[in-house]
Amino acid sequence: MERYVISGGRPLKGTVPICGAKNAAVAILPAVICSDEPCVIDNIPNISDVEAIIDIMRWMGARIERLSPGRIRIDATTITSCEVPAEMSRKMRASYYFLGALLSRFSRAHVSLPGGCDLGPRPIDQHLKSFSGLGCQWKVEHGNVVVWCDGRLRADHIFFDTVSVGATINAMLAAVKAEGTTILENVAKEPHIVDVANFLNSMGGDVRGAGTDVIKIHGSQYLRGTDYSIVPDQIEAGTFMAAAAATRGDLLITNVIPKHLESIASKLELMGSEITEYDDAIRVRHLGPIRPTNIKTAPHPGFPTDMQPQMAVLLAMAEGTSIITEGIWESRFKYVDELRRMGAQIQLDTGGRAAVVQGVKELAPAALRAPDLRAGAALVIAALSAKGESTISDVSHIERGYENIVGKLSAVGADIRRETVDSGEN
Ligand code: EPZ
Repeated sequence: MERYVISGGRPLKGTVPICGAKNAAVAILPAVICSDEPCVIDNIPNISDVEAIIDIMRWMGARIERLSPGRIRIDATTITSCEVPAEMSRKMRASYYFLGALLSRFSRAHVSLPGGCDLGPRPIDQHLKSFSGLGCQWKVEHGNVVVWCDGRLRADHIFFDTVSVGATINAMLAAVKAEGTTILENVAKEPHIVDVANFLNSMGGDVRGAGTDVIKIHGSQYLRGTDYSIVPDQIEAGTFMAAAAATRGDLLITNVIPKHLESIASKLELMGSEITEYDDAIRVRHLGPIRPTNIKTAPHPGFPTDMQPQMAVLLAMAEGTSIITEGIWESRFKYVDELRRMGAQIQLDTGGRAAVVQGVKELAPAALRAPDLRAGAALVIAALSAKGESTISDVSHIERGYENIVGKLSAVGADIRRETVDSGEN
């Protein structure tokens, strides 16, 4: 079992480069299956969720060649199977993107119900609604989702009941080669939605309106190869922004799109951080106390749920009381018990959708366990802020989404190391 040992209390100072976005990469790699030619994908983060997607594609028969770090060539034209094995697809949530990608190519897909972070119920009814609209039938059997259509998928006008990132992307993948013009309404607008649309368009697809509430897709018969670079990771950047503020540090975070970071930057400013934006970088400096503020998560352009745990660490050390309301997931406060071990004063409401955070002067070091990806990142920030030695176990959750987090933090002054221990010891 791997764990991090962190000796906290040092301000982070220096420059941190940001990788390509996890949630764009895990969609764009399966989306290569829609292409009729090989593709080169650049700025791919080196994280375990991406490795799991690559393993699945290799297993299915794709030819994958690493050209340089973060850059790979994928020939998915050699794939002949429209089935993803259960033990592989259950490793991560994003395996559901194989449904849309395989449907676009074979009009048939067979994928196990996805795993991923346990954030409460994670239904896929909206994904299935879009596939039905496109002329498919589906059944869920022994934990497997099977979707099929006789002949080519047919365009439709689909109105989503819930704003869903996954359903929006899956519908785009399934519709990109469907016959006619598909209209998707009440769609998600996150930066990775726009990135997937840009990727499909770079292959000659015709996807318009991504980033707004309505996406129109004119189905294409043939998609050519492309050389595409993945958008920078909004959440990795936001996590380092929060770490800079929590440690009263000064970080220049590079290879970002500052526009994607506005909701995070404006909250940090309210909390007392000094933010400077550059063309493709953002600087976060925090000298004084942390001021309390309220946070409510919402679909983009609202405050991202994937940054809620990291911001809670800052509020736990603020001079006053803050309220955090989680608007997306039922179970995104699993870090609260861990922060309480560090002396944080956080009360959850009975429904578990809101937290009242009464700031304390400082957090104390503790032995912690990462319950999921972003909660794990929050605990890293908490441990970096607390003077003394903390340990964090179950770091595989964190490494699903953060490339070389230990190396990046060490390079800006953190005292953090990764070590292997016997299970049971922490
Ligand atoms: C994506 O999950 C991200 N994962 C999540 O990031 C992120 O928290 C989430 O979007 C919201 O931004 C990936 O991109 C791989 P949703 P996804 O469908 O697509 C409900 C991280 O930490 N819903 O937008 O699964 C659902 O229950 C991860 O990087 C339905 O009701 O999220 C939730 O309440 C964790 N029916 C809401 O919509 C559906 O068919 C939003 O979910 C689909 C979703």
